[in-house]
Amino acid sequence: MSSVIDGKQFADDLCEKLKAEVSELEAQHQLLPCIAVVLVGEDPASQVYVRNKVRRCEQLGIRSIEHRLGDDTTEEALLALIDELNNDSAVHGILVQLPVPEQINDKAVLAAISPAKDVDGFHVENVGALTVGENQMVPCTPLGSLMMLQDRLGDLSGKHAVVIGRSNIVGKPMALLLLQQSCTVTIVHSRTKNIEALCQQADILVAAVGRPHFVKADWVKPGAVVIDVGINRIEQDGKSRLVGDVDFDAVSEVASAITPVPGGVGPMTIACLMYNTVAAAKMQQGLV
Ligand code: GUN
Repeated sequence: MSSVIDGKQFADDLCEKLKAEVSELEAQHQLLPCIAVVLVGEDPASQVYVRNKVRRCEQLGIRSIEHRLGDDTTEEALLALIDELNNDSAVHGILVQLPVPEQINDKAVLAAISPAKDVDGFHVENVGALTVGENQMVPCTPLGSLMMLQDRLGDLSGKHAVVIGRSNIVGKPMALLLLQQSCTVTIVHSRTKNIEALCQQADILVAAVGRPHFVKADWVKPGAVVIDVGINRIEQDGKSRLVGDVDFDAVSEVASAITPVPGGVGPMTIACLMYNTVAAAKMQQGLV
């Protein structure tokens, strides 16, 4: 029977520290960290995510500016807004919630955000920095997952980590972070042969595929630590509920520790966004 990694508590603890740091920055340096959050369109899940991000900012004393743009917004209009935010010295972080409507090229949007204000860590300059081990802005979900793994396991060196999924947002940066910690890293994806056998070798298993209950108990080595990044909405017994990519009940009988959904990686993603926003503000003010 495994222990459940309480991502909510972990996030609350990190946010308490950040809150103290934010008030110190204001008292000592008259610096008020500020993030601009841009939501284009009406995607219901994105609306929930943005609301949660803004709420956390309020709790920590971070200033947040919401820009809500219509479904029919042009790429040109969005790029003009990003340009304005890039040039506003009171704004330290810029986040454009993904996905954006199909008339907008998301790559062009991410490329337009100043790397110093890219609190998502998605700009190619920040991706490149992560690749060569000179981390600047690190993507929030992998960063939060790494923090929980290090808290649970201490030194990760020599452990075999298997990452399921190769997305730019989670899978690839997660693999890079684990490699930096001297893990042996395997990335598996939709074209991988015999995923199950590879997962069975993992000391650390990170699931980021977006498929409900994809990882079964017999894929998991006894004692492994399992991080479930998935957030999938399913209908069960006539009710809608959120589940991860891991069959939580069965896998928790085998793993030594596992993150739940909800209450695992999700809260840590938002806490790390706050962390990146404070770091961006300090960097732009020349304080680090
Ligand atoms: N959509 C889903 N996850 C994310 C995220 O981490 N950042 C942004 N900007 N959009 C997302």
